[in-house]
Amino acid sequence: MRLATTTHLVGHHSAQMSNLARASHVHGASSRNTSISKVTTMKAFVVDKYNKKGILRLAEMPEPKLQDSDVLIEIHAAAVNLLDSKVKTGEFRLLLPYSRPFILGHDVAGTVVRVGPKVRKFKPGDDVYSRPRDGRIGAFAEFIAIDEADVALKPKNLSMEEAASIPLVGLTAWQALFERANLRKGQKVFIQAGSGGVGTFAIQLAKHLGASVATTASAASAELVKGLGADVVVDYRKDDFEKILSGYDVVLNSQDAKTLEKSLDVLKPGGKLVSISGPPDPDFAREKGLNVVLRIVLRLLSRAIRSKARRRGVSFSFLFMWAQGDQLSKITSLIESGAIRPVIDRVFPFEATNEALAYVETGRAKGKVVIKVR
Ligand SMILES: NC(=O)c1ccc[n+]([C@@H]2O[C@H](COP(=O)([O-])OP(=O)(O)OC[C@H]3O[C@@H](n4cnc5c(N)ncnc54)[C@H](OP(=O)(O)O)[C@@H]3O)[C@@H](O)[C@H]2O)c1
Repeated sequence: MRLATTTHLVGHHSAQMSNLARASHVHGASSRNTSISKVTTMKAFVVDKYNKKGILRLAEMPEPKLQDSDVLIEIHAAAVNLLDSKVKTGEFRLLLPYSRPFILGHDVAGTVVRVGPKVRKFKPGDDVYSRPRDGRIGAFAEFIAIDEADVALKPKNLSMEEAASIPLVGLTAWQALFERANLRKGQKVFIQAGSGGVGTFAIQLAKHLGASVATTASAASAELVKGLGADVVVDYRKDDFEKILSGYDVVLNSQDAKTLEKSLDVLKPGGKLVSISGPPDPDFAREKGLNVVLRIVLRLLSRAIRSKARRRGVSFSFLFMWAQGDQLSKITSLIESGAIRPVIDRVFPFEATNEALAYVETGRAKGKVVIKVR
């Protein structure tokens, strides 16, 4: 299969890409084999070296190689996450080692153009979305190969840009509130930063589960989070949430260490503190199969909050979300039923991927930031 040649892509991007899309689609529809006849390339934004101020390089990269259980997706849209920034700077390199150069990007929506011989759930032409698993990221590109276990059909009522905004934050909220905290009807949950990518999804999911929701937001975002269903909104720039909220069953922490500690005051005995912004705990180290040195480091990093939580009779756990196509399918149903809608702040063109990343790094985005690839 021929995706593109280097000379074709430079300067004639859009027209070339739609022709290529058609070509690869037709090819994919008639074949399920994985052989690749020509060395081909695609445009992608890559990390060359870890660097705090570094920008991504727009490069010609080899087309993704399809493994037996993979689908090859022609990317229409990608979303930006703070995780992209953390991977780009090298902050996560011990946990998520990538050999450079590698393509960044953890959220994708697009159309299946080819499938590996063991793929059962998808066929060429399917519109899908995904958070590809760690080690196989690469959404800031024209194509990506993803294991079908990480993929779900795109909600029919969403555009590609809207769909791309969902997987990482949707799975995070699902895994934190539904799986880890077992949030139930009638319970009270405090979701920090309700106007952020995770917050906008988590508020809606918590309301769908029947919980009462408190959140923190600046005054400018109060209407947004109330519109998503928040029952109590604390202006974090003016008020201390720990003096206002009490007796909560669950806290979803996404902020700094001080906020994490204050969150203990909000919980009732037996309550659950789930943090997605650290510190990683020993259970996480075990699940990830980290080496003994890292296990000790993570044990030490989380020791203070674990013992404070124990003294208060509440539980603490760190969650690092994982790719999961079946959960994403359930999220598809929730979106198609109207229970949850995407919240998008800005859509950037593919060429402006670095600007999109810089915008997310300001920490001021309301909802999600999306990149329109085609
Ligand atoms: N462990 C995991 O699996 C996982 C998964 C996803 C995300 N995360 C982490 O979770 C955190 C949040 O992610 P995100 O994607 O939701 O971030 P985000 O979308 O970039 O968050 C931006 C939003 O946060 C609000 N905000 C900033 N400071 C705040 C504060 N002190 N209190 C309340 N709201 C505040 C901002 O509102 P204003 O502009 O109005 O202030 C803005 O709307 C990040 O650290 C991210 O890395 C972890």
